[in-house]
Order: sequence, then C-alpha cells, then structure tokens
Amino acid sequence: MLLRPWTIDDAPALFRLSRSAPDLVRQLPPLDDLAACRALIERFAQPGGRAFALTENGVPIGNVGISDALNAHRNGWFHYWMGAETRGRGLASRAAATVATWALDEGGLFRLELGHRVENLASGRVAERAGFIAEGIERAKLLYDGVRHDVRTMSRLATDPVPGLQPIRLVLE
Ligand SMILES: CC(C)(COP(=O)(O)OP(=O)(O)OC[C@H]1O[C@@H](n2cnc3c(N)ncnc32)[C@H](O)[C@@H]1OP(=O)(O)O)[C@@H](O)C(=O)NCCC(=O)NCCS
Repeated sequence: MLLRPWTIDDAPALFRLSRSAPDLVRQLPPLDDLAACRALIERFAQPGGRAFALTENGVPIGNVGISDALNAHRNGWFHYWMGAETRGRGLASRAAATVATWALDEGGLFRLELGHRVENLASGRVAERAGFIAEGIERAKLLYDGVRHDVRTMSRLATDPVPGLQPIRLVLE
C-alpha cells in the first residue's frame, strides 16, 4: 500500500474507479471521459490543495485529499473516497488517518474539517477512526434528488490525539 500524488497517467484508473459505485457520483465532479479525469488530476495539484491516490500494487484504489487550505487560519477541508471493490478492509480509515496526521504535523495546518450526510455511517466511522471529533449537525444542508440531508460536521486539530491506526507509507512527490 502506498499514498502518493495522482499523476496524469492515473486518468484511466480514476475513470474506472469513478464508475465503480453510485455514491461516487456525489463525491466527484462529472467525469465523462479521460480528458475530464486528466483535468481533475491537474486540479488536484493546484495551490491550497493536495490529493493522494491510495494505491495497491501501484494501482489507485481510492483518494484522500485536502482542499481550501490557502487561508490565514491554517484550516483545510478534508475528503476521501474508495472504489467499490476495495471497501470494507479498513484502508480508507488508515489512509485518512495517515494524511490527516501528515497535514497537521509536517503539512503546517492546524485544523482539518469535513462534513458527511448523517446517514453516511461509513464516512462518519472513517472520520472517527482517523481522529476527527464530531462538532454538530448542519440541518438540511445538502439537496440530492429533491431530498434535503442533515450534515454532521467533524474536525481534527493539530492538538488532538493521533489515532493508533497503522499508517500507510506516504510519498509527497
Ligand atoms: C466512506 C468510504 C470511504 C468508506 O470506505 P471503507 O473502505 O468502507 O472504509 P473502512 O473499511 O476504512 O471503514 C469503514 C467503517 O465504516 C463501517 N461501516 C461501513 N458501512 C457501514 C454502515 N452501513 N453502517 C455502519 N457502519 C458502516 C465499517 O464497519 C468500518 O468501521 P469499523 O472499522 O469500526 O468496523 C466509502 O464508503 C466511500 O468511498 N463512500 C463514498 C464516498 C464518501 O462517502 N466519502 C466521504 C464523503 S464525506
């Protein structure tokens, strides 16, 4: 297992992963073709953001990213997803914990925040295992297919305990 930046050559893998589970449609922008995947990978590397492909035997199987981190408060927005075939092995939790620990230590951020639909229990569990603490509920924040969803907000601070999960090797360049 390895966490490393996405490269343009990962576009076919990103395309395949994006179609592996219906819930990824909400997690990713529309990825209709390889050009759209390449454009998203280029956006991953823009200032204020980092995105790490979680790879197994060199092949991307998921993503952990930070965005909106260019601010005076040293906050970042945290997000993650896994392709359908490799879910349920604890890898998303370990990858999220690894990237969060790096961001709050060497990465120079003080606060990571995220929000998940309250019914997305797997996402909430991943965040908890990665050391995030629940802050509250944003009522009816998201609208999907005509239905409004409450969102649970969570954060992890540089001063919070580091979770005891086995880290995954993280390569920055
Ligand atoms: C959220 C997501 C990354 C989890 O991936 P995963 O591979 O299942 O994650 P892990 O195996 O590391 O851990 C999942 C945890 O959720 C739990 N879980 C999974 N499905 C669950 C469910 N329906 N109800 C309750 N708990 C559930 C698992 O038991 C596990 O907890 P545990 O380690 O205490 O047993 C994956 O489902 C995904 O990509 N979803 C779509 C994108 C998404 O929602 N991203 C987050 C946006 S905020």
